[in-house]
Amino acid sequence: MTHPVIETVHVPLDGREYDVRIGQGLLTRAGVEIAPLLKRPKVAIVTDSNVGPLHLETLTRALKSEGIDSTALTLPAGESTKSWPHFSRCVEWLLDQKIERRDIVIALGGGVIGDLVGFAAAVLRRGVRFVQMPTSLLAQVDSSVGGKTGINAPQGKNLIGAFHQPSLVLADIDVLGTLTARDYLAGYGEVVKYGLLGDAKFYDWLEQNAPKAAAGDMAARAYAVKRSVEMKAEIVLRDETEQGDRALLNLGHTFCHALEAATGYSDRLLHGEGVAIGCALAFELSARLGLCSQEAPSRVREHIKAMGMKCDLADIPGDLPGAEALVDLMGQDKKVVDGQLRFILARGIGAAFVTADVPRDEVLRVLQDQLG
Ligand code: GLY
Repeated sequence: MTHPVIETVHVPLDGREYDVRIGQGLLTRAGVEIAPLLKRPKVAIVTDSNVGPLHLETLTRALKSEGIDSTALTLPAGESTKSWPHFSRCVEWLLDQKIERRDIVIALGGGVIGDLVGFAAAVLRRGVRFVQMPTSLLAQVDSSVGGKTGINAPQGKNLIGAFHQPSLVLADIDVLGTLTARDYLAGYGEVVKYGLLGDAKFYDWLEQNAPKAAAGDMAARAYAVKRSVEMKAEIVLRDETEQGDRALLNLGHTFCHALEAATGYSDRLLHGEGVAIGCALAFELSARLGLCSQEAPSRVREHIKAMGMKCDLADIPGDLPGAEALVDLMGQDKKVVDGQLRFILARGIGAAFVTADVPRDEVLRVLQDQLG
């Protein structure tokens, strides 16, 4: 039997380079993939209470088959785990397991686990290596690559953290089969973002193939994840610590963060859903400012709707605050520099750029149009 193809995207950061491996069957190959990184046959795995019951046993067996001992901690699933109490529990558990500087910690889960465990690895003994095993589409295409790690503060999301690149990322696309349709599509919000921000050809491809990928076509899923990771890697290489270009990855996010804050970071709006709505609004704003034709936002909205995703503010269940209050919430975003809101706007599909030069009134009008 031939093994499905595994693709590799190399991230050649000076002194901290690593591979992102993408394909089917990577969970069962984890021992073979991780063994070359180990100085002794022992790893610590951190997962959550949703992912652990589904995939932890497969992972520990795969490690065992290569003679690697593992020990595991299961944290509660959910965004509230990205907090000091669970973070300190994780770090102290790693110390109790006698994880040393030369050892490897594995993050098995979605964005919450990847961010928290990456940050724990960044500070444990002043830095140990870690492997990301992202199990959500959002984590595979975005949060597991690029080294942003951290936890939330009462003052806001991701306000405490560090840049700490993983030593390997294993994105097994088979595990996407265990996601709910809603979670898969929320992750797709980040995929569509890549086409919109910098690759019009990829966006064309998504218009044709994303429905098939959502329906379970493995070749289409593999390509969507690989192209997204390639684009993220290119941007991270240009600007690892977000002094400039990396902010392009925040297309749709200024609107999204305001909407997430307005809905209390609850189930009413998942992050990737907010990104898709935010991308549509960013294109609407770009057209209003005369930066791109009206055809571009129409095309964006059509695709998001065709995928069965939330596209408009009216698609968010429950009441939203008014346009003024939403713009005020944007002002609390951590991307604000010297009190100036920064937006990612576009001159067309695949042609985004970063700007602080956006009149507040125009942002208000785009929101008012939709709020009625
Ligand atoms: N998720 C945006 C970034 O990694 O910069």
